[in-house]
Order: sequence, then structure tokens, then C-alpha cells
Amino acid sequence: MAKVTVVGSVNRDVIVTVERLPVEGETVLATSTREGIGGKGANQAMAVARTGTEVTLVGAVGDDEAGARLRSVLADAHVDVSALAAVTGTGSGTAYVFVDVDGQNQIVVEQGANAQVVLDGPALDLVRSADVLVVQCEVSDQVVAEAVTAASAAGTRVVVNLAPYRSAADVVALADPLVVNEHEAADLLGRPVAGATDVRAARDELLALCRTAVVTLGSAGAVLVTPDEVVEVASPTPPRVVDTTGAGDAFVGVLAAGLASGLSLRPCVEAAAAAGSLAVQSPGAGSGYPAFHLPRG
Ligand code: RIB
Repeated sequence: MAKVTVVGSVNRDVIVTVERLPVEGETVLATSTREGIGGKGANQAMAVARTGTEVTLVGAVGDDEAGARLRSVLADAHVDVSALAAVTGTGSGTAYVFVDVDGQNQIVVEQGANAQVVLDGPALDLVRSADVLVVQCEVSDQVVAEAVTAASAAGTRVVVNLAPYRSAADVVALADPLVVNEHEAADLLGRPVAGATDVRAARDELLALCRTAVVTLGSAGAVLVTPDEVVEVASPTPPRVVDTTGAGDAFVGVLAAGLASGLSLRPCVEAAAAAGSLAVQSPGAGSGYPAFHLPRG
């Protein structure tokens, strides 16, 4: 059976809804506040699970009440949490997520236990034995680099979601694919990237940095860049946008599940774009994901 290992973050998301997001120096009033599970690693693992694919999350929560709750939500979502540590004396990661009436968000993350993730022997075995490894950048640079290096050496395919952006040339070089949004692509390339035309223009630069790349364009879909082709993939228009939080993570998780099941990149990106469009129709991140479908190979 196809197997994905995700190395990444788990957060308690504190979701604050507002009429509109504040500009610099401005105070706005909340219309509601609630809590849910988040963290790019947890969201991506839950997205993988929602395709029916076997998935293990390597990460850490605090030894607090939130940590126990996050672990149980993940387990209920069919994510293997046997490699999810509980770090003594540390709080679980917390993300403050502000969502406006159009479903757009701003997020600030307090790393908490995510900063303490380490890869021990069993965790490295999970990385090496997976069909696909997924990493993002809410755990330490060292952990991301160790996981990617171990996976690559073992022949495990590596999906790198460079979010939040950080400079990590060695990690990016092994990505197949690298998944970035337009902001992260701009940070990577050192100039603004807006829309498919800019991605097409950056084809050679992207391929000099990584094996393959997927640049997500929000509601406009994504562009897949490989040595053989540059393909624009449209995103189905959702009937309504409730909350865009975690839509990018649904995209990454479904992409990874597709690759693990043996699909080639293009149908995986198509399924991922469809998943992103579904994810924005429900509130919150990972635990709000519906079932995602992979095309037949
Ligand atoms: O990508 C969305 C996620 O980013 C949120 O769930 C939040 O926890 C932050 O990690």
C-alpha cells in the first residue's frame, strides 16, 4: 500500500474572524473566536489521510492539554501518530489565524514544541521506508535537511513545501516537486511573481534550483514546471469561499498521496487543485477537509 511520511508542524489554531483584515497599525474588532487543529504538517497529513492513503506524521506537541487534544484529533483522522513526540515542559505550537469575510487570512505562528522536533532512529526509518516524504518549514532547518537527505538517499520521493519561505538551496535541490505559492516563489527568485506568465518566464531559473516545481496561484490554480513541460492547471471555481486557511496544505497532501499511489505529476497537480478548491468551502484547516479523490492510475 502507498505510504506517505510527513515531517512537520502541529498547531492549535486560534481562529479569529473579522470583517476585514487589519492594515499596519490598525485595530479591528473580532466577530468570533474559536480553536481548531492546524500546522502545515498536521494539515498535510490529514489531507493525505482523506484520500485513503496511509500516512505517518513525525513531529511534536507539548505535554499540555492542547497537545493531547491535537494528538487525538490526528489519530481520529487516521493519521499514524506513533512518531509524534510530547515534549516535556513545552507548550504545543499555536497559530493565530485571522480570517475575513472573503475567507482570506493572515497567520502568525508561535512554534512551541515544533521547534523541538528531532529525528531519532525510528523517525528516520519512517522517512526512508515511505514512498513519498513531505516537508514544510515550520520545524527547524536541521530537521528539514536531515529528513530530505535521508529520504533522497533511500530513494524516497521528496515533496518540499517551502512554507514559510526560507533559504535552503540543498533541500530545494532534492525537491521533486518543490511546491511554493507566489509569495514564496518571489522570495526564492528575488523578484515579484504574479500569475502563470511570470512562472513560465521563470522556468529555467526554477529548474536550475529543483528537479520539478509547482507554483500555486490561489483561485487561479497552479503551474507545473518540469524539464519536459510547463502546464497551467486550473482550479475548479468553488461555489463559495468560507476560509482559505489550509487550502495550500490540502493541495500539498493530495499531491503527495497521488505521487505515492504511482500517478505522474500532472494528474496529481490536477487532483491537488481540486482539493484546494474543496478545502476553501469549509471553515478551519485540516479537520474541516472533506474526502479527497485521486484519479485512477
Ligand atoms: O497553512 C495553514 C496553517 O499555517 C495553519 O493551520 C496554521 O497552523 C499555520 O501553520
